[in-house]
Amino acid sequence: MPKAGILGTGSHLPDRVLTNFDLEKMVDTTDEWIRVRTGIRERRIASPEEASSDLAYHAARRALEAAKVAPEDLELIIVATITPDSAFPSTANILQDRLGAKRAAAFDLAAACSGFLYAVAAAAQFIEAGAYRHVLVVGAETLSKIVDWEDRSTCVLFGDGAGAVVMGPVEQGGLHAFALGSDGSGGCLLELPAGGSRRPASHETVDQRLHYLKMNGREVFKFAVRIMNEASEAVLAKTGLDKGALDFLVPHQANLRIIESARERLGLPPEKVVVNLDRYGNMSTASIPVALDEAVRAGKIKAGDRVLLVGFGAGLTWGAAIVEWSYTHQAIVAEPPSATRSAEGARTEGVR
Ligand code: UT7
Repeated sequence: MPKAGILGTGSHLPDRVLTNFDLEKMVDTTDEWIRVRTGIRERRIASPEEASSDLAYHAARRALEAAKVAPEDLELIIVATITPDSAFPSTANILQDRLGAKRAAAFDLAAACSGFLYAVAAAAQFIEAGAYRHVLVVGAETLSKIVDWEDRSTCVLFGDGAGAVVMGPVEQGGLHAFALGSDGSGGCLLELPAGGSRRPASHETVDQRLHYLKMNGREVFKFAVRIMNEASEAVLAKTGLDKGALDFLVPHQANLRIIESARERLGLPPEKVVVNLDRYGNMSTASIPVALDEAVRAGKIKAGDRVLLVGFGAGLTWGAAIVEWSYTHQAIVAEPPSATRSAEGARTEGVR
């Protein structure tokens, strides 16, 4: 049976930067509160015209270039997102058309911030069963569109972005194991109450601001600290590896204190943990693939490195995977990734 691995990575961030100082002018908050409680300094915000599929498209193109795979060679596209362009058609369908991936099946996957890990695990099943050779997995979000910009307890946390990987059979390395889980009893801790079949959009739901994300931050925090540890232990147990065998941790980027707790329990030094939430905030499904792409392109994560990916999110859901990296990235395209472009010219006074 072939092993599924990652053949190339890509990411894309919108140009507009919203700093903590910008937020001070919008809600009753301070740069210090946000930095100390979360580790976030700034985040990217999509323009009114930009949808998740637009960010996904650019991330996907970069991943395909890195993997040297043509869109026509894709057989499946999975987009993990909680901010699809619309309920249907799926964002994966929109992406499939725009990429010209004419042979690819396509679907969206909803597992909130754990969505990218669920999608990687799903893609691996198709590849290892021999059903598909090239699968594109994308995490893409425009969370700025569902955040209540009058609610200081949530609006300071989230950002927009997309990350992508091309997966296929590999001879070296690959996905060693994954561990996924869910606890639907905690669904009310983080939700978008209206706009679905339970509470369809109405004047009343709009007046009550029910189309915006609601979160019990304190409870999600406690769950996150516990589950990051349990999911990491579970996936390590599946591989039989000791935590000392890990080269990198790429965690979901929700809060630096949650990441620090995971790092300490794994006994990893700070330089082995990939962190980008200071620049991008929490991008839900996009956080892990964007962090991965930046670390791979920077030459940090190289062939042979064992990488632990671990995340949690609404649902409640969680997931962890251990991937042995199959290649060392060679710069292919001349221009720098949008993620590393100078943001100075793009700073914004507000999002509305
Ligand atoms: O992707 C998964 C989704 N989300 C998460 O993982 C989030 C997990 N939770 C967290 O990261 C943290 O719980 C938060 C960062 C959301 C909040 O940090 P906290 O240390 O748990 O703060 P808290 O909710 O206990 O609030 C402390 C105080 C409250 O005031 P009082 O009641 O003590 O007077 C809040 O009203 O901070 C206040 N507060 C703020 N103050 C300034 C809440 N938000 C803000 C704000 N600026 N933006």
